[in-house]
This record gives sequence, structure tokens and C-alpha cells, in this order.
Amino acid sequence: MSTNNLTNSRRHFLQSITGLGGATLAGSLLPSSLHAASPIMTPADPAAGHIFTAAPYLQYAAPDSMVVMFITNLLSYSWVEYGETSSLGQKAHSVTNGLVDAYNRVNRIKLNNLKPGTTYYYRVVSKEITGFEPYKLTYGNTLESELHSFTTPAERGNTMRCLILNDIHDRPHSIPHLVQMNGAEPYDFVFFNGDIFDYQTNEQQIVDHMLQPCISSFASTKPFMYVRGNHETRGKYSRDLHHYFCNPQGNQYYTFTWGPVHFTVLDTGEDKTDDTPVYAGIVDFDAYRREQQQWLQEVMQSRAFKKAAFNVVLMHIPPFYSGDWHGTMHCRELFNPLFNKYRIDMCISGHTHKHGVHPPVKEQHQYPIIIGGGPKEGQRTLIRLQADARNLRLTMLDDNGKEVGNYTVSK
Ligand SMILES: [Fe+2]
Repeated sequence: MSTNNLTNSRRHFLQSITGLGGATLAGSLLPSSLHAASPIMTPADPAAGHIFTAAPYLQYAAPDSMVVMFITNLLSYSWVEYGETSSLGQKAHSVTNGLVDAYNRVNRIKLNNLKPGTTYYYRVVSKEITGFEPYKLTYGNTLESELHSFTTPAERGNTMRCLILNDIHDRPHSIPHLVQMNGAEPYDFVFFNGDIFDYQTNEQQIVDHMLQPCISSFASTKPFMYVRGNHETRGKYSRDLHHYFCNPQGNQYYTFTWGPVHFTVLDTGEDKTDDTPVYAGIVDFDAYRREQQQWLQEVMQSRAFKKAAFNVVLMHIPPFYSGDWHGTMHCRELFNPLFNKYRIDMCISGHTHKHGVHPPVKEQHQYPIIIGGGPKEGQRTLIRLQADARNLRLTMLDDNGKEVGNYTVSK
């Protein structure tokens, strides 16, 4: 079901329980495409006033678009001002079913019709909404972020350079530390390959342990993408985690192409069987992984997959070298035959906390499997992946910046 369908079904449900008309209800209770009962609709810390709980951070980028996210403490109407010079001049906000997203806190605003390979300047602005009557809306303070800039990817670009982190496990200082290991080497985006948290508690944890360290080190100028690990499926806030990120296709498993590389991102779910008592009957990952197998089959027959110079799979639990628990074995059973059949160039994972570069093994996996380390000091890694039309090069650095592995695929 799409986000819009979900929003519509919630609206119909709320209409039926309140007996209110659609327009009034949609305007007052469902400002964004986010669900109404969630804590994301409640001021995080009302005494703090109208502040940015999280300054702008960039999400999925395409040659003609960029997604800007930010969080305010109080319910407000927020937008992005942007342009090719620091005087800006253009404005974007999000609209859902004819209503501008407002009376919300977690903002996800897509800038469309951008020029490829072009630098844009932007800031985000937020006006607190202090009163919301049907014909009388009252605004409070207006907040403005600092001015930032980003560069859109080139159209049909011939290079891709990204950094991959995994298994941070609620150690926020590791994010800037590992990104710094890259030094002055240019990169286009950062990818988080799961288990950035131990389990999900609340919004403050997401802000303090991931968003803030990303913002302070790169995320207002470079986008990042993210896939869950098994740990992000745990805890009382795990069902709200997706509100804070924006993936291509708006999904938890997705594809994107950056220059010569087509990426397929799988959401590998939990590591134990669904009926394990600790899950208390409220997970259903077997069916979810099978759904992804069907989707993967379609992806691998797509034009984007076939015409890419390189195909890389990103998935938290690797299909080999991670024991024989159910999560690993089910990923192996469902995905590995497709990886072999459609000849992926590389699989990059985490999960084991033991870094390794595993070349292809006949009769098992005909592609290299790279596993990042973490989370303890001395075991953390930064993976640097770079490609041009001929070579896909991976380098893995430890948390002192020493190279601990590499792999190159040449065409
Ligand atoms: Fe982990």
C-alpha cells in the first residue's frame, strides 16, 4: 500500500469515528503524510519553545531533485528557500491532497526541477502555529536555519563516490570520527548499512545518536541514505523510525542509480525466526523477505539494472559469513540464487561486527561479499566505494585510518 493510500485509509477511519467532514479533519488533524496518533505530532519539549530539534539534513538526491528534512520542536508551517545563488529566490513546501503540509514537526520537503550537477544554496524556515481554528490560523515565531549548499548529481554522471558506515550501535561519536577518516577525498553521499541503534526508544535518541552527528559532520551539504539492521526493528519507537528518513521510492527496500552504479538495498529484518518468544508475536519478517525476493526479481530484469556498469547490493545481514541463524539462512535461500543468476558485482553488509573481504566462492556466491566491522573502538570501519565506467573500487579503513581491506571489480 502506498503512503497516500495509507494516509487516505487513516483519514477515512478518523472521519468515521469522529463524524467530521473530510476537509476540516484533513486540515486540522492530518497535516502531513504522517500518522495522527504518533508522538511525532506532540511537541518534544514545549518549554524549549520554537527551535529546530534537528537542523536540515539531506536525503535522497537525484540529478533533478533533493529531499530536505528537518524537525522543529513545536507544530508549525515550514518550507525551504533555495536558489543558485545565496540570494535564493525560490520556495518549496510539501502538499498532500491539496493541503500544504502544516501543523507538523517532522518535515520532508522535496525540491523538484533542479538542474543536474549544479550547486544550490538553501535555508529552511518554520513558522510556529499557535492556534488552528477552521477560519482562524494564528502564527507565532518564525525560525530560520543557517544558509547551506548542496550540489545535485550529474545527469548520466560517470563517477560515483560514497562512504558506507554500519553497526554504530548508539555510539554517536563514531559517526563524525569515521567520516573524518575519509580525509579530503571527495564523496557524493553516505550510506548507513543498519544497526545504527541498539533498539528504538524515542525521537530524541534518533536526533542525538544519528541525525545530529550526521548534521554536524556532513548532512546539511551531502545526502545520506539508510537501511535498517535487525536492531532497528526492536523497541517501542521502531514503528515510527521511518518518519525521520526518506528513501528512494519511499520504501524501506529500494533501488537507486548513481553514475555508473545501480544500488539495490534490501531490508533483511530480524536475525531469529518470527516465532521466537522475544518478538512476542509482533514481527512478520519471513513474509517481508519473500515480498522482497519477488521485487528483487523484477529489479534485476529492469532496464536500470541491466544497463548499469556495476550492480551493488547493500543489505545489513550478509547471506554468508554470519553464522547459521534464521535471518542469514533465509537471506541466503531467497536472495543468493538471484544474486548469482543476475551476476551482481558486489554485496556490502555489516551485522557480524567482524570486518572481512570475501572473494567469490564457486558453488556458493559468485560475487564478493564485503562486511564492515564495528561498533567497538578498534573494530569500527569506514568503507569507501568509488566507481567509474571501468572500475568499481572498495577500500575499507579501520578507525585509525589504516586500510584493512580492498576489492576491485574491473569491466
Ligand atoms: Fe550490529
